[in-house]
Amino acid sequence: MANPFRDLLRFERRVPPCAIVIFGANGDLTKRKLLPALYRLAYDRRLPASWAILGNSRTEMTDDAFRERMRDSVKHFLEDTPFDEDLWKQFAANLFYHPGDISDPAMYAGLDRRLKELGQTHQTAGNALFYLSTQPSYYQPVITALGQSGLARGEGWRRVVIEKPFGHDLASARELNRCLRGVFDEHDVYRIDHYLGKETVQNILAFRFGNGIFEPVWNRRYINNVQITAAESIGVEGRGGYYQESGALRDMIQNHLMQVMATIAMEPPAVFESETVRDERAKLLRSVRLMTQEQAPMHAVAGQYGAARIGSDDVPGFREEPGVAKDSQTDTYAAVELYVDNWRWAGVPFYIRSGKRLPKRVTDIAIQFNSAPLRLFNSDDGDGSGRPNLLIVRIQPEEGISIRFLSKSPGSGMRLRPVSMDFNYGTSFGERSPSAYETLLVDVLVGDATLYSRQDMVEASWTVVQPIIDDWNARKFDFPNYESGTWGPAAADEMLARNGHAWRVP
Ligand code: BG6
Repeated sequence: MANPFRDLLRFERRVPPCAIVIFGANGDLTKRKLLPALYRLAYDRRLPASWAILGNSRTEMTDDAFRERMRDSVKHFLEDTPFDEDLWKQFAANLFYHPGDISDPAMYAGLDRRLKELGQTHQTAGNALFYLSTQPSYYQPVITALGQSGLARGEGWRRVVIEKPFGHDLASARELNRCLRGVFDEHDVYRIDHYLGKETVQNILAFRFGNGIFEPVWNRRYINNVQITAAESIGVEGRGGYYQESGALRDMIQNHLMQVMATIAMEPPAVFESETVRDERAKLLRSVRLMTQEQAPMHAVAGQYGAARIGSDDVPGFREEPGVAKDSQTDTYAAVELYVDNWRWAGVPFYIRSGKRLPKRVTDIAIQFNSAPLRLFNSDDGDGSGRPNLLIVRIQPEEGISIRFLSKSPGSGMRLRPVSMDFNYGTSFGERSPSAYETLLVDVLVGDATLYSRQDMVEASWTVVQPIIDDWNARKFDFPNYESGTWGPAAADEMLARNGHAWRVP
């Protein structure tokens, strides 16, 4: 019988010869994520024998100056990989730079020439990946220009990666999709969501569908509620300008956390293939119950951090951060209560929250099971009700999975206490996990879109959050409403309390 998980074994897939064109090559993402990930792939000998990177941005720079700049960034942002001078020399020989304004049609003619040259000198076989890592407002002009200049079609394959944010709301996401459809075939469009590339998020599928014991209880009969938390202790860290236009709901929930929710809640695909997995994710996102703008205040909470003293540091409030308006209405914290209207999940709340300047950096999913139907024993937590079983999927930083259950405390009498059974990635496998960008770059180069978002998925998740955005745009919040270093506004606790639930402290 065919192994439905054959593609879960994602190693040893051969990357074909290709050129990678990075728009926004002088930007933060290129320095912090893309180049370090590509270097690491070279370190692991996962790049093909013939390849080239062609960076573009407005800054005038020679190939050598670009190499020097990238050398510094790679060295600085390589987290767990030694920097090897000999390897860097070989790597840098494949780096090229083409300066120019992306709104100038002549620039694309130059790019085309350089790509053809690289085809000769570096045998890239006419394959080209265009990576859009510019400011989002340039996505459409670049896509249109790739179409008009003829670069979107070539001898080999042509693919495009779009960084988030994919649109600013439902209407702009649709508009961007329309623009993409006019130039590329959908199977050549890769909308990146780096959360899907995280090992721990991929492992949710292995955990659910590779084991026999979890799926039977993975439904409304046994699960009481699901809590997805992505907390960061940092503030906006110099990204005030971007963040002020985005906010936590758009920055984290609409994309990353709704994809995590889809992975937790989707139905098993019949086979493990790109389209079947994406079909199930999309189906789940389409099953999320839509709220009206009037209902939004009951099911969504916005927060913004204020100044506080944390340890010996005075941290500023969001409105005091550089680039942020003094009366900013932007959410640095968002919590939503969602329901999935299908047979598996009817009536089970999915609580999703994300925020900056929370007490610690942690991303996890807590699946809370129903309590035992009878309370036979007293437990140590006071009211004798016992605590419900919890399954915690730790996405980061201590990657792993824990199951919490009650156990008898040693000694006489039947007193119970919660204990936990833990799986920890680091100690179980003792090897490094590839970063999300390494995984996703290899995927797009081999043409595997499983971990990328599809047009219908993006539009479905915008459809879910749009009434909340409309409600928030129409309101004036009394911000700040939570102190830096705390777990967010009181209204988020009240939202759960209305259902008799409480946020778990991660
Ligand atoms: C990015 C957001 O997409 O994800 C950032 O724009 C956020 O605001 C980051 O800090 C979190 O990613 P990770 O991988 O550190 O959880």
